[in-house]
Amino acid sequence: MSDTTTMEQLVSLCKRRGFVYPASEIYGGINGFWDYGPLGIQLKNNVRDAWWRAMVECPPIGPDGQPVQIVGLDSSIIQNPKTWEASGHVGGFNDPMVDCKECKSRFRADQVAMVTFLVNGDEVMTVGAVCDSPEVAVDEAMSSLNSKNRRRLEKHGDKLVSVVKTVEQLPAGETGNCPKCSGELTEPRMFNLMFDTYTGAIRDENAKTYLRPETAQGIFLNYKNVLDTMRVKVPFGIAQVGKAFRNEVTPRNFIFRSREFEQMEMEWFCCEEDVPMWYEFWKQQRMDFWCKIGLEGDNLIFRDHDGDELAHYSKACVDIEYRYPFTAPGFGELEGIAHRGCFDLTQHQTHSKAKMEYFDQPNNRKFLPHVIEPASGLTRGTLALLCEAFTPDEGRASKVFMKFKPSMAPVKAAVLPLVAKDGMPEIATQLYMQLREKHMVEIDIKQSIGKRYARQDEIGTPYCFTIDGDTLDDNTVTVRHRDTLDQERIPLDGVAKFLDEKITG
Ligand code: GAP
Repeated sequence: MSDTTTMEQLVSLCKRRGFVYPASEIYGGINGFWDYGPLGIQLKNNVRDAWWRAMVECPPIGPDGQPVQIVGLDSSIIQNPKTWEASGHVGGFNDPMVDCKECKSRFRADQVAMVTFLVNGDEVMTVGAVCDSPEVAVDEAMSSLNSKNRRRLEKHGDKLVSVVKTVEQLPAGETGNCPKCSGELTEPRMFNLMFDTYTGAIRDENAKTYLRPETAQGIFLNYKNVLDTMRVKVPFGIAQVGKAFRNEVTPRNFIFRSREFEQMEMEWFCCEEDVPMWYEFWKQQRMDFWCKIGLEGDNLIFRDHDGDELAHYSKACVDIEYRYPFTAPGFGELEGIAHRGCFDLTQHQTHSKAKMEYFDQPNNRKFLPHVIEPASGLTRGTLALLCEAFTPDEGRASKVFMKFKPSMAPVKAAVLPLVAKDGMPEIATQLYMQLREKHMVEIDIKQSIGKRYARQDEIGTPYCFTIDGDTLDDNTVTVRHRDTLDQERIPLDGVAKFLDEKITG
């Protein structure tokens, strides 16, 4: 990701090249919902598959030198509504919101900052700004000002200081100003984030159900089924990838915060004494995962939650945060690793009366396992990969290329005949038919070669194999490397091996 990256450029590329489209666009869109185009679904599936491989198919080696045990699950999106009473979501899954009394806009109270500009301790102006990280609040506030007000502030030069407080942090009785129209905001009120619906023909309170706001509860509901049917012993994990729905007050920043999104969650069941060891273990494993699939170490940090930030179920939580363009120089959440204690199993045991205890045969004791939960956003992870890959380059026709790690790239290689004649398309087709057996590859025959390279740069294809006049003579092809623009010739019959090594290497 370059410093000059802007979200507008990235969003525009995503639309133009088929990564992400606004949902229901022909009807004017719908706030907080996005559709993944042909390239976007490919990229998202690659992130999902890398996670599934790292969790379920080839889980990490544990502290005892043996692979840890994790099994997969795909639970229903709609569950018995008692699930969400027991989990605390009906009573406690709330965000504080504020409304503007003038223009009626609605905001999340923790995302509206009041930026007060002071000179020699005297207040010059207070401006409301919507932001996902305090670091960008001042810039947001500045950019919302008209030029007259901006000049009024800028004339104070170095003497100008700013104090940032979210609306939530204001003293009781004090309300903020609307970031859109400066009107007075209401006091924060709680707003439940769960989408509800009705199941069955009669739409009354008894038929009310919820779209899951997290995939985790489906895992807790099936913990006993897995224990009774699979050959697992504590410690073990259950992993799940799937859709989650939250009626976010202010969906923002492209696919970062949407109302329908995907999560990749794993609940790790262990005994209480081992919690500190597993918490540290999963923290490191998860950071390594994001680096391995292509995020730069410098763009990732750990951030421990303060006590007052913890979710209702959580005893401790650390976030892995990524430096998104809209949070830079600050960071925004990518994944949370939470110590959920035995909260969920206790709650479901109490509410359902089903026994959730684990019998530890070697030590002849029964207990409710404690849980460490690495919970990440699949759609948010996809966004991080898009941000990281976006690389402006004035020197090339496309002016930008997507520098995905080859194993994550939506298209691994393109086969391009230099011209659509002289037998070149036939050789290209043969090569394409061979490569597609193992990899996602494209063949592109029409247009000038420059335009075709430009398109492949913009969709982040790491290798282009070009069939040209020399191929007809000596059975070699040109390989064009996306990142360096280097070109080399390799034998036509060595292309498949070359690609295998580059993608898996
Ligand atoms: N089971 C725990 C749980 O759901 P969370 O921190 O609320 O924890 C986990 O969500 C991850 O899901 C977040 O780290 C984030 O990546 C993703 N996520 C949460 N809300 C989201 C939203 N509205 N849009 C996109 N991703 C979201």
